[in-house]
Amino acid sequence: FGHTIHYHKAVASTQPLAKELAEQGAAEGTVVLAEQQLQGKGRLGRIWHSPYGKGVWMSIVLRPATPIQLAPQLTLLTAVALAEAIRSITELNVGIKWPNDILHKGKKLCGILLESAAEEQRLKYVIAGIGIDVNLGENDYENELRNKATSLRIEKGAPVDREQLIEAFMMKWERLSDLYDQQGFEPIAQLWESYTISLGQRTLITTAQEQFYAVPLKLTERGSIVVKLDDGEEREIFSAEMGEVKQ
Ligand code: BTN
Repeated sequence: FGHTIHYHKAVASTQPLAKELAEQGAAEGTVVLAEQQLQGKGRLGRIWHSPYGKGVWMSIVLRPATPIQLAPQLTLLTAVALAEAIRSITELNVGIKWPNDILHKGKKLCGILLESAAEEQRLKYVIAGIGIDVNLGENDYENELRNKATSLRIEKGAPVDREQLIEAFMMKWERLSDLYDQQGFEPIAQLWESYTISLGQRTLITTAQEQFYAVPLKLTERGSIVVKLDDGEEREIFSAEMGEVKQ
């Protein structure tokens, strides 16, 4: 339905391929999809485990009118689209962990990596990288990941159709993008808050500088989160790891 999809069996990562297409003028919504990534990229320089045929490993070209400093809004929009698509296809009650992980019962199912290119203080394009652990089995996770990550198949107890999932995601994503273009971030933020598991519970927060406990109170339009420390002080956090929360 109107999107060009570039399909590959195996690539290093779908991100640089999508970037290259964007540089060549590819339209908004152009998708790069791979069965396997040999060097899948996660946030914070991590590796994203992307075994053959078992996940959705894709990058989408976005050409938003969003001001640069509000680019995190696009990550939150993508997380909402993913949460809605997964809920509708699998009926799993997944939640969003700030800023953009999708979890089920405390384990991570998907990650989002947004990379942007700017030109004269404007976003030239954004590449939204999406990794969904769809049909990985227990044996696809090494020890360290096993406690932290899971797949839709493991959680649901049955395989999940990747094509249906991608189609549902693209439809949700388009609907939310239209809503965002017409009404701004507010309705997206409301949806995000309705799906998040990150607000209201005291949790350990690790930033690049320090570690402390705080209660996350609300999302801001900058995509940051306002937290309340034990001494009552409120602080705005732009980038951090959040500890485990009950779901
Ligand atoms: C995270 O660390 O949570 C983000 C993971 C993003 C993984 C996806 S898979 C498709 C795209 N290509 C990559 O190399 N990474 C992203």
